[in-house]
Amino acid sequence: MTDNTQPTSNGTIESLLTEQRVFRPLPRVIADSAVNPADLKHAHHKANVNSLAYWEDAAERLQWYRRWDTVLNETDAPFYKWFYGARCNIVHNALDRHITSPNRNKLALIWEGEPGDTRRLTYFELYREVNKCANALRELGVTRGDRVVIYLPSLPETVISMLAAAKIGAIHSVVFAGFSANALAERIEDAKPKIIITVDAFYRNGRILSLKPLVDEALKQVEHSVDHTIVVHRTHVTVDMDTEKDLWWHDIMRGKSYEAITETMDATDPLFMLYTSGTTDKPKGVVHSHGGYMVGVHHTFTQVFDNNATDIFWCTADVGWITGHSYVVYGPLMAGTTTFIYEGHQLYPEAGRLWSVVERWGISVLYTVPTLIRMLMRFGEKYALRHDLSTLRLLGTVGEPISPEAWVWFHKHIGKGKCPLLDTWWQTETGMIMISPYPISILKPGSVARPLPGIDVDIIDDDGNTVPTGKGGYLVIKKPWPAMITTLFNDDEAYKDIYWSRFPGCYCSGDIARKDEDGYIWLQGRADDVILISGHRIGTAEFEAAFATHPLVAECAVIGIPDTIRGEVAKAFVVLKEDTDTLYLMDEEEETEQQLIDHVRAELGSIAVVGSIEIRDTLPRNRSGKIMRRLLRAEATGGDRGDTSTLEEDPFWATIK
Ligand code: WT7
Repeated sequence: MTDNTQPTSNGTIESLLTEQRVFRPLPRVIADSAVNPADLKHAHHKANVNSLAYWEDAAERLQWYRRWDTVLNETDAPFYKWFYGARCNIVHNALDRHITSPNRNKLALIWEGEPGDTRRLTYFELYREVNKCANALRELGVTRGDRVVIYLPSLPETVISMLAAAKIGAIHSVVFAGFSANALAERIEDAKPKIIITVDAFYRNGRILSLKPLVDEALKQVEHSVDHTIVVHRTHVTVDMDTEKDLWWHDIMRGKSYEAITETMDATDPLFMLYTSGTTDKPKGVVHSHGGYMVGVHHTFTQVFDNNATDIFWCTADVGWITGHSYVVYGPLMAGTTTFIYEGHQLYPEAGRLWSVVERWGISVLYTVPTLIRMLMRFGEKYALRHDLSTLRLLGTVGEPISPEAWVWFHKHIGKGKCPLLDTWWQTETGMIMISPYPISILKPGSVARPLPGIDVDIIDDDGNTVPTGKGGYLVIKKPWPAMITTLFNDDEAYKDIYWSRFPGCYCSGDIARKDEDGYIWLQGRADDVILISGHRIGTAEFEAAFATHPLVAECAVIGIPDTIRGEVAKAFVVLKEDTDTLYLMDEEEETEQQLIDHVRAELGSIAVVGSIEIRDTLPRNRSGKIMRRLLRAEATGGDRGDTSTLEEDPFWATIK
């Protein structure tokens, strides 16, 4: 155990419920931190007294073209309008303003490709590339409010396209490159972009994966037609190019001016949207604004990670997720930090890749996900020991609950007991970190500590009453915060319904959590059925829809089951079609199951991991005909079956106790 460990009990750590260890900040960390414990106490006090004044202070640290009339306009709640009346553009703060500051020639971005190729761009160079791209997009007819879909892995061009779109007032929607053509098609149909930006192919786990053909396939499936597909040239793979519609990135960038006007946006204008999985329906387009998002992300990036001028910040998330948007791209760039981006698989060519990156680039802050920590733990600490990790000063995790074992392993073997490890809770919808320790906080492995100043969190029961200490309940947010979701794209009603109708006046996160006697929060999981695979949320409904497209499948129910590496994987209960007897024979069960797994992967992409399939005759359903997934979950995990009064009697269920 490390010298700053102060266990309050000697018990071994079995689960989150029995975890008792406490890690106090080292005096060195407190001395080096810009925010000392007294400052933090003061910030909490100030935000409690007047949270709007607190956020107004945060906004003052950024540049605006016109000041706000009101910090928060609540007249049309829950369509909260932050910094109402203000004019700004997030790209002005992420790039333009650095060009006249000492940051001008500092590295903005360091990128490493999986094969080991690297690129470095200073703020000035990134600014020029973004301007050229902005001019190219403008020339192709993209204007304010138009959507640009960016279907790229983590490349410098991904960042450049996002910033270029935002610069000209277009709305970017990055679609994670691990998604399939079908998933892309669904997003294109909803977002109706003018332009799609993609790549010929990219490197992943030692393979070259083609992406452009998936765009062609997706476009065939949709009614919407895009003006152009822009293709970044990354590999030697040959791709089919439509002579009219498809354009090479290097062709449209050639000869463009280095200067481009940054569009003056209303603070409430949309900046981007990002699709996130729902339980029942199609993916939802979460919309974020220029002004509020800018303030929330800048504030949390600088505060939580105690940003300093010499940092090299590595957030391992793909740029295509909210974590990538807020803490790979916008947060670090607004703060004038050097952000590190890696293209490929984290364990390629071997489990030491991550540590080799930390050593070679001198990474100082490493923000990652529990699933990766669990994978690395499996390989043991020998890989970490081969590298000099002494530049690290701070560690963070996000995305799913981290087990105390994984927390302690990461803290001890990677942080060497010296780097605070911050478990940060937030969501695509919150846009920014909401609950997290500061580097100077007392840490409890497995807990996300307390809400940040200005964030009003409660844990309530079905009736909306605060639950007693130690008891689980719905995690809700009772006051608006700057980087909050502004709506769901083209679906204001669903926005109100999903987030604000369950507990009026409160934002419902959909998570279940409990608070301990110190006010520390412990996440227990989602209240609904979304499955978190390696930190990626995939709706059970998306899985079921994918299974349903297979000719053998009559019906299907999918649940999440615990998985030591990925957090969760899907388990599917499948009823086969009656008339497929000739296709399906009992001794071919394994083959059929594999065929279904392959099918779902092709439908949803490789992140959609189906751990197992059970072929059944029937599925449990309630009297209104809805499948009761919670009974399947109880069966699979040995948990409580809950209320079964609505279960339609079915002989199959007689076998379950
Ligand atoms: C859901 C949001 C924004 C981060 C990337 C995922 C779960 C997130 C934690 C954490 C326990 C966490 C929640 C949340 N989650 N962070 N520190 N501890 N659970 O964004 O895909 O929108 O998912 O991830 O269930 O609701 P997302």
